Amino acid sequence: MKGLILSGGRGSRLRPITYTLAKQLVPVANKPILFYGIEALAGSGITDIGIVVGDTKREIMEAVGDGGRFGVSVTYLEQEAPLGLAHAVLIAERYLGPDPFLMYLGDNLIREKLAGLVRRFAEEKPNAQILLTRVPNPQEFGVAELRDGKIVRLIEKPKVPPSNLALVGVYMFDRHVFDAVKAIKPSGRGELEITDAIQWLIDRGFTVRPHVIEGWWKDTGKLEDMLEANRIILDTIETRVDGELEAAELHGKVIVEAGAKIVRSVVRGPVIIGKGAVIENAYIGPFTAIGDQVVIRGSEVEHSIILEGSSITDVGGRIESSLVGKNVTINRSDSKPRSYNLMLGDRSHVRLI
Ligand code: G1P
Repeated sequence: MKGLILSGGRGSRLRPITYTLAKQLVPVANKPILFYGIEALAGSGITDIGIVVGDTKREIMEAVGDGGRFGVSVTYLEQEAPLGLAHAVLIAERYLGPDPFLMYLGDNLIREKLAGLVRRFAEEKPNAQILLTRVPNPQEFGVAELRDGKIVRLIEKPKVPPSNLALVGVYMFDRHVFDAVKAIKPSGRGELEITDAIQWLIDRGFTVRPHVIEGWWKDTGKLEDMLEANRIILDTIETRVDGELEAAELHGKVIVEAGAKIVRSVVRGPVIIGKGAVIENAYIGPFTAIGDQVVIRGSEVEHSIILEGSSITDVGGRIESSLVGKNVTINRSDSKPRSYNLMLGDRSHVRLI
């Protein structure tokens, strides 16, 4: 079975971070989200993966390469515009060929192992397999209505959801999906929806199997979801200290990568501190990922993601629930007049106290 990972979206809900970084490359626990997906496919025995790329093609190719480091072979498929998930399937037809494939949305994180499902799909040969999970906000997703364990209806982002079962971004299809994606019309948001393609299959009597997953799943389109994904992954780390400690207090599970230095600071895990980072006279609280070469001095940071190369110095209050991009500087100035001094990119969010 081949894999198809969709990594073309623009990530508008994560601006300004996504002005300069593909949303699939935003790190969760210091590893790009996309890598978790590639690893999930590799772990289920899939070795040929097509990655659909758009505007951020260059960055994605640079980060993933030929897939060798994941033990897979990656082929890049260009989507000229983000015209929908079903459109991505359409352009991947030639690469995928007539055999069944697994499609994975590159901004999704899922705990469930896929190997069992992949094996069953290959053995039992339904026409499609969808994954579902119960969510408190179904109107933000594709939603399934089931009757006696069978799918009767799928609707994309319904105003009045018929259930709380959201479509998870992992799907399996046989070749009939190509007929479906060719037959459907663009939705209200101007995209060819995979949800409509699957409904097309259901309406024509093809077998579409639902599977309700256990455990967590995250679609990391928004800041809160990124922080939540970061929290979930950090919860699973084990302590490892390869860096240097000097009068440092480490509590709970903490990873300190090689070349990092923690001096006169308190770190309360789960926390990961990237290569070459410097933490001095600081407090790093639970669920924080500090990127490579970050400097935190005289400051407190908790439940946040700080990307590589940034520095936070002598900030008075605690920085919490924040996502800080690459090479950002946040510091305190004592010179007069005392004022907030900002240079922020478009669509930045700052909350002052
Ligand atoms: C897409 C699908 C939706 C699904 C979601 C999962 O939504 O259209 O059905 O529930 O992914 O992440 P999008 O992220 O394109 O808004």
